[in-house]
Amino acid sequence: MLEIRPVAGYEELEGCYDLWDAVFPDGRAFFQERLAYDRTYHLETTWVAVMDGVLAAAQQIFPYRARYRDVVVTVGGVGNVATLPSFRHRGLAQALLGRQMAWMRAERFDVGLLFTGIPDFYRQLGWHSVTLGVELKLPRSRVFAADSSRDPTIDIRPADLDGEDLVALLDLYQRDNATRPWTRIRDLDYWTDLKRWTHQERLQVWLACAQSEFIAYLIVRPRTSTPAALVECGLRPGYDPSLSGPLGALLRKLWTLVELGDELPAALPANHPLIGAGVQVRPHPGAMATVFHSQSILEASAARVTRENYRGLEADLACRLFVDPEPGFLWPLDHF
Ligand SMILES: CC(C)(COP(=O)(O)OP(=O)(O)OC[C@H]1O[C@@H](n2cnc3c(N)ncnc32)[C@H](O)[C@@H]1OP(=O)(O)O)[C@@H](O)C(=O)NCCC(=O)NCCS
Repeated sequence: MLEIRPVAGYEELEGCYDLWDAVFPDGRAFFQERLAYDRTYHLETTWVAVMDGVLAAAQQIFPYRARYRDVVVTVGGVGNVATLPSFRHRGLAQALLGRQMAWMRAERFDVGLLFTGIPDFYRQLGWHSVTLGVELKLPRSRVFAADSSRDPTIDIRPADLDGEDLVALLDLYQRDNATRPWTRIRDLDYWTDLKRWTHQERLQVWLACAQSEFIAYLIVRPRTSTPAALVECGLRPGYDPSLSGPLGALLRKLWTLVELGDELPAALPANHPLIGAGVQVRPHPGAMATVFHSQSILEASAARVTRENYRGLEADLACRLFVDPEPGFLWPLDHF
């Protein structure tokens, strides 16, 4: 007998952690902490397929709100899609995802988003590949070769996520991303939850101040078993966003303080000025989207919808939305 449903309680959720641990290389703690550290987590977002009493497959929905032009869009991020090897090729993952999609539609989510290396699997259920930023590597040599003569005098320090820096980060992020489609809308709780990761040294958040004003921040994943990576950067609008500006100055200082290697991997919006300094630049692979409810999105796009392109827009709305009007982006911190 097959049951497909949200997890029944925290005991069954423990079973999901075991299942994800068995299927993925990230380790049980990664999956457990990602839900436990998120105060918005709700059991109804974790779905399971139970076959003859055995928890055989599990998947997770990561709900959040995003910007799209001047509307707020509810997104269902889909992740942790996993079936135990002995239960594969029986349609469990597809059935589970199909039920989650129906649930998200019923709950009035606007869009679904996921990251995958097996797009064909999701195409069968109506997901489309979309462009969502670029991946690149920032060579140390180029970062230091940039003209630093105009480096502002900045103070750099680790952010204090237990105190007043929370508000500064919230403010900088909001200003920097106000016109960047598909970035996540974050509240103070989001930044507060982040401190659990920084306490464990999984993430480092660095702030730059000039004349007692916060002007930039960088979030890096320090080198542990994997190479260090630039996870996010933010800059107060109005400052030079190239390597000659505060972000470059912050990067140069950070490189002398933290072991970042010769080439720092990063993911950035497709129109970000720092990309010019990067090598191995390629579109971020594997992002896929599906549209559950198009009304608010179409309203925001109304100026672009003409009689001629309406049909096409309906057919591949998801793909078009993420490349227009500004390139869509989701900071890696928000990936699932
Ligand atoms: C991917 C996965 C969840 C599929 O689970 P499943 O329950 O066997 O999937 P279903 O039976 O519903 O669907 C199987 C169909 O999906 C497609 N599919 C499955 N794995 C695929 C892959 N790696 N690449 C492309 N298509 C794939 C095939 O069309 C397959 O049909 P088949 O059974 O006739 O070969 C499972 O293989 C798994 O847990 N893999 C490891 C974790 C993983 O890669 N998760 C996806 C992360 S985005």
